[in-house]
Amino acid sequence: MGIWLEGRTLAGKIRDGVKEQVEHFRGLTNQVPGLVGILVGENPASKVYLGTKERTSQRLGIHSEILKFPGDIEKASLVEEIEKLNKREDVDGILVQLPLPPSFNPFEIIALISPEKDVDGFHPFSLGSLLWNQDGFKACTPLGIIELLKASNIDILGKRVVIIGRSLIVGKPLAAMMTNEHATVTTCHSKTENLPRVASEADILVAAIGRAAYVTPDFVKPGATVVDVGMNQLKDKNKAKEFFGEDEKREKDLQEKGYTLIGDVDPRVIEKAAHLTPVPRGVGPLTVAMLMRNTLEAFRRRKKFQ
Ligand code: GUN
Repeated sequence: MGIWLEGRTLAGKIRDGVKEQVEHFRGLTNQVPGLVGILVGENPASKVYLGTKERTSQRLGIHSEILKFPGDIEKASLVEEIEKLNKREDVDGILVQLPLPPSFNPFEIIALISPEKDVDGFHPFSLGSLLWNQDGFKACTPLGIIELLKASNIDILGKRVVIIGRSLIVGKPLAAMMTNEHATVTTCHSKTENLPRVASEADILVAAIGRAAYVTPDFVKPGATVVDVGMNQLKDKNKAKEFFGEDEKREKDLQEKGYTLIGDVDPRVIEKAAHLTPVPRGVGPLTVAMLMRNTLEAFRRRKKFQ
């Protein structure tokens, strides 16, 4: 039986550190970091994520705004809005919540953000800096995963890391960060042949594909560390019982919300792995904590505060 790796505790410590620094600089300079999130369209999950980012910013003393635009906004207007934010002295971090509506090319839009304000780490300059193993903003979820492994004293150097999923948000930047940490990295995806066999070679297995309970115990080497990045809605009561057993919290979720959250990993993997991150309260809180840290860092660099 493995250990649950709760990201919540570490995320709390990171947020406390950011809050303290924000207060310190406010006392010294009467300025606070500013973060602006951009939402285009009506994606319900994006609204929830941005709401969490805004609330967390406010709790830490970071000034936060969310700019909402209709899904059919003209590209020229969106370009103009981002250019205005690039010029605003009180804005340190700009994030465009993904996915954008299909009419937009996300590469073109993200590339408009000034790299010094790219707190999500998705700008081509930030991603290029990551491949160069140079300082720059790094994507928040992969950064959170690395922080969690380090804080839990789980070695990365020399280990076999298998990442399931090749998204820009998690899989690709995580592969680069793990390579920079001297791991031996394999990225798997929908076209990978014999994926369970590849996964079962991993010392550290990361699932980031968005398929409920896709990773079953037969994907996992005994004693591996398994990181679950998935956030999927499970609506079937019988399935929930099968995955979680008798669980009051899950039953309450199902009754009140009509679903309970499940990751990309079957929770019964805990019986075979050395560590598994829970869903919720695993990797999720770290993503937001890292965004706060990146925003503070952007503020310090722009204002040249040490
Ligand atoms: N969509 C899902 N995760 C993220 C994230 O970390 N940042 C942005 N901008 N969009 C996302």
